[in-house]
Amino acid sequence: MASPNNDENNNEMVVTPWEVKGKVDYERLIREFGTQPLTPELLAKLETYTNKLHLQIERRIFFSHRDVDTVLKLYEQGIKFVLYTGRGPSGPVHIGHLIPWIFTRHLQEKFKTRLYFQMTDDEKFLIDDQRTLADTQKWSYENALDLIAVGFKPEDTFIIYDSQDMDLLYDITLEVAKRITYSTARSTFGFQDSTNIGWVYWPAIQAAPCFIHKKLTGENVPALIPAAIDQDPYWRVTRDIAQKLGYYKPAQIHCRFLPGLGAGGKMSASMPETSIFTIDPPDVVKKKIWNAFTGGKGTAAEQRKLGADPTVCSIFQYYFFLFEESNEKLAERERKCRSGETLCGECKKDIAEKLNQFLEAHRERREKAKDTIEQYHVKRK
Ligand code: TRP
Repeated sequence: MASPNNDENNNEMVVTPWEVKGKVDYERLIREFGTQPLTPELLAKLETYTNKLHLQIERRIFFSHRDVDTVLKLYEQGIKFVLYTGRGPSGPVHIGHLIPWIFTRHLQEKFKTRLYFQMTDDEKFLIDDQRTLADTQKWSYENALDLIAVGFKPEDTFIIYDSQDMDLLYDITLEVAKRITYSTARSTFGFQDSTNIGWVYWPAIQAAPCFIHKKLTGENVPALIPAAIDQDPYWRVTRDIAQKLGYYKPAQIHCRFLPGLGAGGKMSASMPETSIFTIDPPDVVKKKIWNAFTGGKGTAAEQRKLGADPTVCSIFQYYFFLFEESNEKLAERERKCRSGETLCGECKKDIAEKLNQFLEAHRERREKAKDTIEQYHVKRK
């Protein structure tokens, strides 16, 4: 896929909505994007609403935000918020996609609030020369099943399929588009002369669900967007114009990328051998895990003697992100790795089992979602 930045260079960190590469330095992103770290005060406040901080907050998988403090203050004053997130349906869903969705479901439960979810079949069609709209529409349906399998409540979840539901968004996109200059869009997204004009208008479409709640219900409340930090450029331009249109600025809470199973780099559908898809059968999962990059040594003897390095291990990240909820057990696993007591094969075998159990249950719920999917469609409400 051609990025509008045409950025062909080396191993430098690149984080844009279309491309994530190099070693991601999250502290640097906070500085460069101008977002806020999660402070102890903010976490304490969040905890009063959620009983216990979600694992993904506690481990700083969600690590940065904009205006979550404002949103919580308004919430205290009786002004609720809605959640908004989305997915570019370009292929099957992998575990990395589920991470922010699991957290979003937690917020939906704890704050008893609506979720608007945008399936951007139009975006994925526009940015990829080779793709047909029929293809991204097919993936919209498939990916919605995965979303529903995460456990969202039908009465509070509104899926917007862009190419079907644009009539609902269209007037909002116009209001937004009119107030963003080409110069701002070009410098934010790196558009080139060769960028197609659909792509140039497209940011207005990702902005629109931030504001749709008012149109549907008459209530003017802020949107809170849990999403990976690569989506941030969209929110920057949206925040700049929100108040001019009479809305609250949308707030964000940003997560890290789940690393792929290779040496460095995020899990990416374009590298299927280093990604675990929800539709991967057990033997495929085992094989991918078996081939995963770890921090182990060349031989077992050497590793017993010198220990391994969990900080570079892709398998350890799986435990950290999702599969070891107990901090004590995680610390114990880390210790045994460093000391050479555990060899990589053991960790791999464990995680493959955990993953396959998780995926089996997910796929059962995913199958059931085929009967309920219509209840989630924004137009069915
Ligand atoms: N642009 C996102 C993607 O490519 C999809 C998306 C649309 C989204 N709206 C969103 C993601 C809101 C997070 C939050 O995946």
